[in-house]
Amino acid sequence: MEKERTFVMIKPDAVQRGLVGEIISRFEKKGIKIVAMKMLKVDRELAEKHYAVHKGKPFFEPTVKYITSSPVIAMVLEGYNVIEMVRSMVGKTNPQEAAAGTIRGDYGQHIGRNIIHASDGKETAEYEINLWFKQEEICDYKRIDEVWLTE
Ligand code: CMP
Repeated sequence: MEKERTFVMIKPDAVQRGLVGEIISRFEKKGIKIVAMKMLKVDRELAEKHYAVHKGKPFFEPTVKYITSSPVIAMVLEGYNVIEMVRSMVGKTNPQEAAAGTIRGDYGQHIGRNIIHASDGKETAEYEINLWFKQEEICDYKRIDEVWLTE
């Protein structure tokens, strides 16, 4: 298993609905380490860069409008195989298709309000972490439970 970092954004709907603690708690309980976290109001420039691969698609404009509408929580999470692990905890993009027990499956109803974003691969994770965080905002530290999380 390889130690990785991934980028997660708790979207405006989840912040407005008071789901921040619940969502972060799921990652903490899984043993995933938070190495960076901040609340910010996303501007159009950041939103367009974040969703650059979707430019031109019909949902691009509504999605940019959605994530710039109200503050978000941005995080960098670290752990073994964390990119895939977080994606499976988040569930399918469309909350209608996301399994119960996943964050989108449990808290979302509509693809246009899908609660959370998580990087979908290694390259994306690197791009998104560098886009959202400065190197000095990411904390390198050991959690006391780390020895109990892997064999
Ligand atoms: P996210 O995982 O952040 O990546 C792209 C986002 O675009 C997605 O979650 C949704 O918030 C939004 N979106 C809206 N409609 C669609 C769609 N039809 N397909 C994919 N993403 C969509």
